[in-house]
Amino acid sequence: MHIKYKKAWKQNIIYEIYPRSFKDSNGDGIGDLPGIISKLDYLQSLGVTALWLNPIYQSPDIDHGYDITDYYSIQPEYGTMKDFELLLEEVHKRDMGLIMDLVLNHTSDQHPWFKASRSDKHSRYRDYYIWRPAGADGGPPNNWSSYLGKSAWTFDEENQEFYMHLYNSTQPDLNWDNPDLRESMYKMMRFWLDKGIDGFRIDAVNAISKDQTFPDSDLSRLQSNGEPFIKNGPYIHDYLQEMNEKVFSQYDIFTAGEMSYISEQDVLDYTHPDRKELSMVISPEASTLGNLPEDEFQQKEWTLDDLREVMQKWQKNVGDPGGWFGLYFSNHDQPRLVNTFGNPVEYRVQSAKMIGTMLHTLKGTPFILQGDELGMTNNPKLHSIDDIKEQQALAYYDVMVNERGEDEEKIMQRIRRKARDHARTPMQWDESNHAGFTTGEPWLPANPNYKEVNVKEQESDPYSVLNYYRRLIEIRKNNPVLTYGEYKAILTDHSQIFAYLRLFMDQTWLVLLNFSEEEAAYSLDPNDIERLADARLLIGNYKESNEIIDLKSGNLKPYEAIVLAPPLHFH
Ligand code: NOJ
Repeated sequence: MHIKYKKAWKQNIIYEIYPRSFKDSNGDGIGDLPGIISKLDYLQSLGVTALWLNPIYQSPDIDHGYDITDYYSIQPEYGTMKDFELLLEEVHKRDMGLIMDLVLNHTSDQHPWFKASRSDKHSRYRDYYIWRPAGADGGPPNNWSSYLGKSAWTFDEENQEFYMHLYNSTQPDLNWDNPDLRESMYKMMRFWLDKGIDGFRIDAVNAISKDQTFPDSDLSRLQSNGEPFIKNGPYIHDYLQEMNEKVFSQYDIFTAGEMSYISEQDVLDYTHPDRKELSMVISPEASTLGNLPEDEFQQKEWTLDDLREVMQKWQKNVGDPGGWFGLYFSNHDQPRLVNTFGNPVEYRVQSAKMIGTMLHTLKGTPFILQGDELGMTNNPKLHSIDDIKEQQALAYYDVMVNERGEDEEKIMQRIRRKARDHARTPMQWDESNHAGFTTGEPWLPANPNYKEVNVKEQESDPYSVLNYYRRLIEIRKNNPVLTYGEYKAILTDHSQIFAYLRLFMDQTWLVLLNFSEEEAAYSLDPNDIERLADARLLIGNYKESNEIIDLKSGNLKPYEAIVLAPPLHFH
């Protein structure tokens, strides 16, 4: 088929487009499909091989598309089905793949299935959702809470019963134990696959099978959300194997399952080729290093040991020929990469390049969130709750401040740090009004740094983050060692430098990343130095390629990154 990395799908470099914020073509302030089409040449020039679109289906948009009312049609503000088909054709013409977001755990409460389920207990759709009578005390059937803080159950006056929802009460959970529901979902997947799309990113996929005896959870709200009863539920693997057999295996595609807080064994269980379930798991674990689950008001000062621990788990124990995973360090739900791992002010450019170097030199399949290739940063303008658009932060504020009477400033501090709006500000195309994203009023204001940080500016600067990303992507595509090679952590006691070797057949590569704003001294083990004989700098954010680096001892500059490769890579 069209896309270059169809067979060697692990080698894809996937670019996440948040359609609402990518490019607006008609001045209504909301990004759209024609806008994306107008920027495909840019994406092709970046070198990425597949595009993942966040949901573009019809939706009341309370969770920006993750609450669907019609899986078969396009949200009018994004365009029409014709626009979608043209987009797919144009993406394929440029040798890229198109991945759609698949939301299986819930629909909108405005979906006709839920409306029928709610209004008629005898409807065939009644059991598409999870309804239960009140618990013994007349309250919810159990003590689980939703990810938005309130109970996972909402009482429906009309029915005198509760329905279940892991997210907002406007996003009722589907009942995957119902075979008709499963068939309806498979039919919908085939509809999109028959159009020729190249795969799915599957939302919250390990939550679709719940323990429907609904035991109480003995964990606190902050840890629980009904876990462990909602994750990796009793029939999850049966359902995924069925989905694979009936749908995925009939097409030449790949699938990425979104899951949080999972183990290495989970990755193997979901993605080992023998099990015929998913192609890869994506988990935002590295980007949540600074979270303290037991006290959500405290920001943990994470250390390189924490980062190494996460990397060790994914890099060392998983990989060919076992399970597979995405390098999912940022996405539309997390603060910007530079804010999490770097310094968005004094060292924005150097730290963005250093983090990009990590993303492109680890084992796995990299995911780039739109704008990370420019070093876009968190939006400093989220002052009060009125500046916030995304529902999780709004719901959190409501529970904490309005219901529990917590100190507003304390809650706002956390929201300013974590709000998903940071990742959703408009893509910064040029220095014109609203970053060239729209000629109208943007649905979410652009980050005020767009005058300096934008595509147009960076195109003409050979040292820009954008041009550095282009080189990283080119290097990764030409060197399968970076996708498949063995990962070996070195300098594992270092408090500033994250360092590793990548080993593949007779090749040894070295990556040194200074995560601090101070100079950092290193000295390598003589055995490693021997393996790296003749290696030279392939890419770095301070030094020119081809430089010979002293491995016995040296210093890295603040946020410096260097990648050393064997000589055959120099022409
Ligand atoms: C994960 C998605 O990334 C997030 O944006 C969404 O709100 C939830 N799943 C619920 O669908």
